[in-house]
Amino acid sequence: MIEFRNVSLQYNSGAAAVHDLNFTVPDGAFVAIIGANGAGKTTAAKLMRGLLKPTSGEVLIDGAATTSLRTSELAKRIGFLFQNPDRQLCKPTVREELAFGLELLGVPDAEVKPRVDAVLEDFRFDPERSPFALSRGERQRLALASLIAVEPKTLILDEPTTGLDYRECMAVLGRVKALHEAGTTVVMVCHDMELVLDFAERVLVFSAGQLLLDGETRKVFRDTETLPKASVLPPQITRLSERLADVLPPADTVEEMEAAIRGRKGEKA
Ligand SMILES: Nc1ncnc2c1ncn2[C@@H]1O[C@H](COP(=O)(O)OP(=O)(O)O)[C@@H](O)[C@H]1O
Ligand SMILES: [Mg+2]
Repeated sequence: MIEFRNVSLQYNSGAAAVHDLNFTVPDGAFVAIIGANGAGKTTAAKLMRGLLKPTSGEVLIDGAATTSLRTSELAKRIGFLFQNPDRQLCKPTVREELAFGLELLGVPDAEVKPRVDAVLEDFRFDPERSPFALSRGERQRLALASLIAVEPKTLILDEPTTGLDYRECMAVLGRVKALHEAGTTVVMVCHDMELVLDFAERVLVFSAGQLLLDGETRKVFRDTETLPKASVLPPQITRLSERLADVLPPADTVEEMEAAIRGRKGEKA
C-alpha cells in the first residue's frame, strides 16, 4: 500500500509543486492521475517512487517512509516508467537492456538469463537489436518490459501512451492490464480520458498542486462541478450521456449507450 500523509513538495525556492496531499493506493488498485499541465502529477508520481523526498509530510510504502528505504529496495518494489522512455534506455542491445535492471538489483547471473528470456519471449523482441533502432512505441514497450523483468509489486507510469499510435498504445496498455489482473498495483498519469475510463478503477484529480477529487472513475467523470476547475473534460460518451440525462438512463460506455437508446426505442440491445 502507498500512503501520502500531508505531503508537500517545494522545488528549490519556488512555490509548492504539490501541497498537503492525503490519499492511499491499496494493493492491487488501478489508479489514474489526471489534471492540467503543471498540476503536480509527475511530482506526485516521483514522490510515490521515492525519486523525490517530501519537503514536509510522509510517503509510506507498506508502512515504511520512502526516506527510510534504500534506493534498491524502492526499485525492487516499484517500477517507474518515465514520460520519455529514452531516459530509461542506455544499453547497446535489447537483451542487455532487459538484463540491466536485474543486474543493478544484484539478481544472481544464473537467474538473470531465464528471466530475460521469459520477457523476450513474452514481448517478442529481437534480443540483438539496438534499442535506439526501435520505433518510439517499441522503445516504450521495451522500457516497460525492462521494468516488468524486475517483477515489481507496483508500476507507476507517467503518461505511458504519449506519442504512440493507437496500435502501440493498446500494446502497452494491454500489457499493463494483464499485469494488473495478475495482481500488480498500477498508478498511471494520463491525459487521455477515454483510456482512463477504459482502464482505471479510480481517479485522482490534481489541480495547482492539490488533490481536488479522489473517487471511482465513473463517478469522478460525472462530477461536472469539480472537473472544470481542474481543466478536465470528461470522455465524450459521458458528456453525451449527461446532455441526454432527461431522456436516457446514464451510460458510460458505447455498449451502455447503445442499450439505452435501443431500450428507449423498445428494441432489444
Ligand atoms: N525540476 C523542477 N524544478 C522546479 N520546478 C519544477 C520542476 N519540476 C516541476 N516543477 C514545477 O512544479 C509544478 C508541477 O509540475 P509537474 O509535477 O511536472 O506537473 P504535471 O506532471 O502535472 O505537468 C509546475 O509548476 C512545474 O513548473
Ligand atoms: Mg508530468
